[in-house]
Amino acid sequence: MSLFDLKAWMHVHLDRVEAALSDAIQAESPAALGQAMRYAVLDGGKRLRPLLVLATAEALGDAPHSAAALNAASAIELIHAYSLVHDDMPCMDNDVLRRGKPTVHVQFGEAQALLAGDALQTLAFEILTPQDGSVAASAQAACVALLSRASGYQGMAGGQAIDLASVGLCLSEDQLRQMHRLKTGALLLCSVQMGAACVSGVPVAVQTALARFGQALGLAFQVVDDVLDVTADSATLGKTAGKDEAADKPTYVALMGLEAAKSYADALANQAMQALADTGLPDARLAALRGLTAMVVQRNN
Ligand code: IPE
Ligand code: IPE
Ligand code: MG
Ligand code: MG
Ligand code: MG
Repeated sequence: MSLFDLKAWMHVHLDRVEAALSDAIQAESPAALGQAMRYAVLDGGKRLRPLLVLATAEALGDAPHSAAALNAASAIELIHAYSLVHDDMPCMDNDVLRRGKPTVHVQFGEAQALLAGDALQTLAFEILTPQDGSVAASAQAACVALLSRASGYQGMAGGQAIDLASVGLCLSEDQLRQMHRLKTGALLLCSVQMGAACVSGVPVAVQTALARFGQALGLAFQVVDDVLDVTADSATLGKTAGKDEAADKPTYVALMGLEAAKSYADALANQAMQALADTGLPDARLAALRGLTAMVVQRNN
């Protein structure tokens, strides 16, 4: 029986992430841009990506409370929050509810939402490159390379472009998998890879198994997002349910039906668990990553 307490682990790490995010964005700013940024980032969000960064770094023996891992955790959440602000805008998914609140463009106007997203994106890279000697230059460079690629045209932004270009189309399973891998999977994989990049000397075989873990988990995450859009209500989700079908988006539910999509998410979570075992790391070290994987498929929001 595992003695690992995921709730307690999450509580400690969530507190650190929330404090770091709040410190990172000052409300004091030109034309109140900081307020729109704080609204987008604070008070909501499961913080799965930061937790994955911290859990991966710890699994690999990172020093407790290392600045490198906490900075990477904050940076990926800022990129994610920016992607949500833009995803919700009228030119994209046109959503009015996010994290249980009116979306940023509804609250602050479209131009301010656009700028808040832009500024969150650049702030992520500022945080990854502290000038106070707290993070080795090699770890900084590795994280910047990983996060910039995962966010850009070969990652999240590219996936969002496919998503918008695919409205009303009937994608093949390969095409849909590619879209999900990019728009959502890339940042989840990147969370795991940045966690590993914060620790020096990780063997290539361990990095490879962790990458397989991140890929399977990233795809599982978006399949579950597609499922929840159909099965959950807006109050639980904190965002408008039923939007995918209404907007004629290609999803795993549309492709294979609800039950098959749920089974596929479970199969992907099993693949992720197997990849964790393949790292060869001691079980105790993997407990948080295992717990987060189970959470991804069991979540209700
Ligand atoms: C929602 O991500 C957008 C997708 C990539 C599917 P999350 O479900 O992680 O959203 P928050 O951060 O918890 O609000
Ligand atoms: C969003 O996918 C992915 C990104 C923001 C990159 P969705 O459009 O499915 O996310 P939700 O359902 O609005 O959270
Ligand atoms: Mg979208
Ligand atoms: Mg959306
Ligand atoms: Mg969705």
